[in-house]
Amino acid sequence: MSSSGPLFYNYIMSWCSYIILPPLLLYAIMQILYGLSHRINFLGRYYAMLYYALQERFGITFVLRELKNPTDKNKTFADIVNHYDFFAYWLMCLDKPRVNAYEEAIKQYAQLRKKAVWLDIGTGAHMPLTRLLIKHGVAEHVHAVDANRKTYQSAKTLREHLPNEEKSRISLHYGYSKDVDWYRQEPRPNAIIHELIGRIITDEGCIKVLHDTIANINDDVSIHIPYRSGTLCIPVSRPKPSIASSLCSLLMSTKVRIIKEIGIQSMFNPPKDAYLCETPQFVEDFILQDYCKKPLEKCRRSERKFIVEKNMAMWTGFYLAPYILTSMDNSNGAVEVDGLKQRTNWPVYYVAMNDIRKAINVKQGDEIHIVFESDLTDECPTYRIEAWANDDYLLRSSFAWKGKQFR
Ligand SMILES: C[S@@+](CC[C@H](N)C(=O)[O-])C[C@H]1O[C@@H](n2cnc3c(N)ncnc32)[C@H](O)[C@@H]1O
Repeated sequence: MSSSGPLFYNYIMSWCSYIILPPLLLYAIMQILYGLSHRINFLGRYYAMLYYALQERFGITFVLRELKNPTDKNKTFADIVNHYDFFAYWLMCLDKPRVNAYEEAIKQYAQLRKKAVWLDIGTGAHMPLTRLLIKHGVAEHVHAVDANRKTYQSAKTLREHLPNEEKSRISLHYGYSKDVDWYRQEPRPNAIIHELIGRIITDEGCIKVLHDTIANINDDVSIHIPYRSGTLCIPVSRPKPSIASSLCSLLMSTKVRIIKEIGIQSMFNPPKDAYLCETPQFVEDFILQDYCKKPLEKCRRSERKFIVEKNMAMWTGFYLAPYILTSMDNSNGAVEVDGLKQRTNWPVYYVAMNDIRKAINVKQGDEIHIVFESDLTDECPTYRIEAWANDDYLLRSSFAWKGKQFR
C-alpha cells in the first residue's frame, strides 16, 4: 500500500512528460528560431517562406501584438526605419503580388525604350527594386539610399558582389533621402522608385519623405513608381481566427488574442467572414507624384458611409489595408496590389472602435459612418478615426494613434 503513492506519482509524471514536454520543446524551438530569423539572413528567409506557406496552404491567420500607448508623442521616424530586419526584408522580397506589380510597371516603362536616372528611396537589404530596374535595362544609373545602418551595410556587401556592369550602375548612399543633395549628384536623378508604403499607406511617412526628397531633387521627376496608392477601409465585427491560427500565432511568437477593447492590432490574412459589407472604400487615395509636390495639409479628412449587407451582426470596428497601383496602365490587372484581397507582406490593421461589451448590433441596410483624419506633415503621421452607426450621434466612438505599429 505504501508503494502505490510513488508508483502513481511516477505514472503521472511519465504521462506529463509525453503530453507536456513535446509542445513545450516545440514552443521553445520556435521562439529561438523566431528570434534568430530577425538577425540571421538565411533564417529570415526560411521563416518568411514558412509564414507565406502556412497562410496559403492552410489559410492561417497570424495575429500580431496590439499597439500599446497609441498616442505616445515620443515615437519618431527613426523608430520606423530602425525596426527593419532580415525577416521583414525577406517578407517583402517573397511577396509575389508586390514584386510582380513593381516588375510589371518597370516592364511597361521598358517598352517606351527610354532610360532614366533613378532614385530608389529606402532600397532595403537586398535592393530588389534597384536590381529590377537594371535587369530590365531602364536604368542609366540608380542612386539607392537607405537610412537604416545595418540595411545599408547589407546592401553595400551585396553591391560588392554584383557583376561589374551592374555594380557600376549603382551608387549606394547612407542616410535619409531628404538629407542628400540630389541636385548636385552626377548623374542627377530624374525618376523615383520606392516602396515606403505602410499598412495605412502613409504610416511609414511616405508623403513627407517624398515631399522633401522631390524638393531636394529640384528638377523634373519624369516617372514615379508607384503611381497611385490608397488605404482601403471596411467595417467588421470582431474577427475570430481559427484554433489552428491561434496555435500557429502562439508558436510563431505573435499573439493569440484579438483585442476586446478599443485599440489597433495587425493581422496577416485576417478572417474575411468579419466583413459587414462586400466593398471596401478608400479613406486615403493619392497620385503620389502630384500630391507630394504640393504644400502638405495639416489635417486631411475623409468621410465615408457604408451600408451593412449582413443580416445581423455585431459591429466593432474596421479593417484598414493598403492598395497600390505601381503604374497608370492597369489594363491587365498586373500592376495592382490589394492588401485586403491578396496575401502580402502588409498585415491588415484591425481598428477596434468599440469595446466588445459595447459592440453595436447592426442589421442589413444599416449605415456605418467613418471620419478618417490624418496629419501627414510629419514623417511619423498621426491619425484619428471617428465612427458611428446610423444617426446615433450619442454613440460616436473615436480612436487616435501616432505612427506605425511595428509588430
Ligand atoms: C518597406 S522597406 C522597402 C525595402 C525595399 N525597397 C523593398 O522594396 O523591398 C522601406 C525601406 O526604406 C528605408 N527608409 C524609409 N524611409 C527612408 C528615408 N527617408 N530615407 C532613406 N531610407 C528610408 C527603411 O530603412 C527600409 O529599408
